[in-house]
Amino acid sequence: MLQTLRTPGDTKWFVQDRFGMFIHWGLYSMPARHEWVRHNEKITNEVYDEKYFKHFDPDLYDPDRWAEAAANAGMKYFVITTKHHEGFCLWDSKFTDYKATNTPAKRDLLKPMVDAFRKRGLKVGLYHSLIDWHHEHSVIDTKIGPYRELSDADRAKMNKGRDQLKYAKHLQNQTRELLTKFGKIDVLWYDFSYPDKEHPDDPTLGKNKKAWQSETLYKLIRKLQPHIILDDRLDLPSGWDIKTPEQFQPRGWVLHEGKPVVWEACQTFSGSWGYHRDETSWKSPAQLVQMLIDTVSKGGNLLMNVGPTSRGEFDERALDALKSYGEWMRRHSRSVYGCTQAPEEFKTPQDCRLTYNPKTKRMYVHIFAWPFVELHMDGFKDKVEYAQLLNDGSEVFISQRPDWQQHHKTAGESAGSITVRLPVQKPNVTVPVVELFLK
Ligand code: GLC
Repeated sequence: MLQTLRTPGDTKWFVQDRFGMFIHWGLYSMPARHEWVRHNEKITNEVYDEKYFKHFDPDLYDPDRWAEAAANAGMKYFVITTKHHEGFCLWDSKFTDYKATNTPAKRDLLKPMVDAFRKRGLKVGLYHSLIDWHHEHSVIDTKIGPYRELSDADRAKMNKGRDQLKYAKHLQNQTRELLTKFGKIDVLWYDFSYPDKEHPDDPTLGKNKKAWQSETLYKLIRKLQPHIILDDRLDLPSGWDIKTPEQFQPRGWVLHEGKPVVWEACQTFSGSWGYHRDETSWKSPAQLVQMLIDTVSKGGNLLMNVGPTSRGEFDERALDALKSYGEWMRRHSRSVYGCTQAPEEFKTPQDCRLTYNPKTKRMYVHIFAWPFVELHMDGFKDKVEYAQLLNDGSEVFISQRPDWQQHHKTAGESAGSITVRLPVQKPNVTVPVVELFLK
């Protein structure tokens, strides 16, 4: 079995559970046109707060329903944006006034959410943006944010009195709150560093570990919650536990300096992380389920995102997408939980993915395109005890090619191959799976 790089955090449960929910929720759910709306439209603090901070009131917010939808989709953990780049905090932080308790919501929105998901047995993850377009000491730079295109003179004027070290201190203070006021936190997801290539330490040109005082922050995190799984976006060479490819599917197991690492792909239903009313690029149920399978077949986790509305609900498109996961996972979850990349000797058949459970010695053949009757599999000869379709537990036969076919030699045949005989009709499930009991 492929060994991954050892890291400080507890990833044992993580590589077992494989599937989580990312939640992007904040004031940006009101403009409802991408969580980077302030950057995209260069909206000033004054305008943004007059419109959105002043009127944010999620009156239909019921985190039990969110937790239920996640659990029914087969998700085992969740990661919530405690604060995104806009700087708005969902919890009652004593280090800022820019928080939910100071809006018409008038309450801490994070605590009841953490309680609701924990009550349903899901592990708890907190996303926290390093970037802050609202904080008075976060130095304005030329790369990102609503003020990035100011003239040098205007930027210098706006940066007058700003002390990036004071902002780094603020990050520590809020991190301490998040890691002491909400119980055991399983995942901590910072986002993101973008150092300038030529002048990495200059906070007016980009942000690196110096801008966040990442080493100090890291020591604090490990002191408060040593087991926590930390992502790789603090610009630190080590100490992180997971690599986090975003909005693309890696071609294979993710490597760091040539070594396989624990990794988690984070993906969206339609492109935007925050609720986007008019976005039409929603993935199909088949794409969504195939993305989960593809990720696990390469030894990774999938963190699938939902952007709730400003009324505090998952919209029907998101609920339908979660239902499509739930329907497939109800019968196929054992081809995901506890599974990983198949040992090298087993070749992935055409239009398929393999996931493997080393404990039960079961191989799962996920069929992305239903073949006509025969599925040829290389590297499996004499290694399979029994085979069945997972959706209904019905036997499928493994055979050598029938005599009358033997004289039709074809390219690509290998001595170690077997042929699984499938029904003509594709089972009525999003992705059919053949379960192989290995000897
Ligand atoms: C990127 C996006 C950010 C999102 C994050 C999630 O950094 O910019 O908006 O929260 O990815 O992975």
